[in-house]
Amino acid sequence: MSSAVVIPAAGLGLRLGGETPKAFREVGGDSLLVHAVRGLRAASAADLVCFVVAVPPGSEETVGKELAPYVGAARLLVVAGGAERPASVRAALDVVPVDGIDCILVHDAARAFVPAEVIERVVATVRAGADAVVPVVPVTDTIKVIGPGGAVVDTPDRSTLVAVQTPQGFAPEVLRRAHAAGADAAVTDDAMMCERLGVVVQTVEGSQDAFKVTRPQDLLLAEALLARRSK
Ligand code: C5P
Repeated sequence: MSSAVVIPAAGLGLRLGGETPKAFREVGGDSLLVHAVRGLRAASAADLVCFVVAVPPGSEETVGKELAPYVGAARLLVVAGGAERPASVRAALDVVPVDGIDCILVHDAARAFVPAEVIERVVATVRAGADAVVPVVPVTDTIKVIGPGGAVVDTPDRSTLVAVQTPQGFAPEVLRRAHAAGADAAVTDDAMMCERLGVVVQTVEGSQDAFKVTRPQDLLLAEALLARRSK
């Protein structure tokens, strides 16, 4: 069987600063989106046959031309994203082919350096029967729950907490059902939409390299990671 990947890349990246939307910021001469697509292609066991990318409205054609050399024999579809991440994923999901796809990945363009083995682990776990799969890493900070006034109301046991990365993998019918149910402002990932339907979300080991480029210092980390990989 084959898998498809949905890449939300329509965010403005306000926390990163600069004029260029985040997915199009360059590290080592290529955009984060190109790095992300290249990383997905490197996961050969995932059998990716279709890439669907959601981009800022108006940039579909330019991005399609930029990415075409990187998807190999896979199909590339570029759609206009929405105002929020769930709307961008939904727009992309709407054009993912139905036939012959046994796993749909959703992968943030901003997690441009995810290692192939993480992608392959996620796909293998969906193929083994999981409805929804997320890569995770341990949390190193102590996490507090705060109230409206800023006072701490709880300190969850850190040993039960993990940070969630992408790609997240889904049985296609489950992801479509989750998006059909709709999202509100509290939704920050696709797994959460599945949880709301009562779907069991399985975790697999993620990687520190799959960090999300969010703040300016993440660009420095990305440069350092690329330098280490090219050695
Ligand atoms: O803003 P954040 O870092 O959480 O965004 C995660 C991913 O979702 C990024 O790849 C970003 O481009 C994408 N996104 C999107 N459409 C939006 C907002 C974010 O595709 N409206």
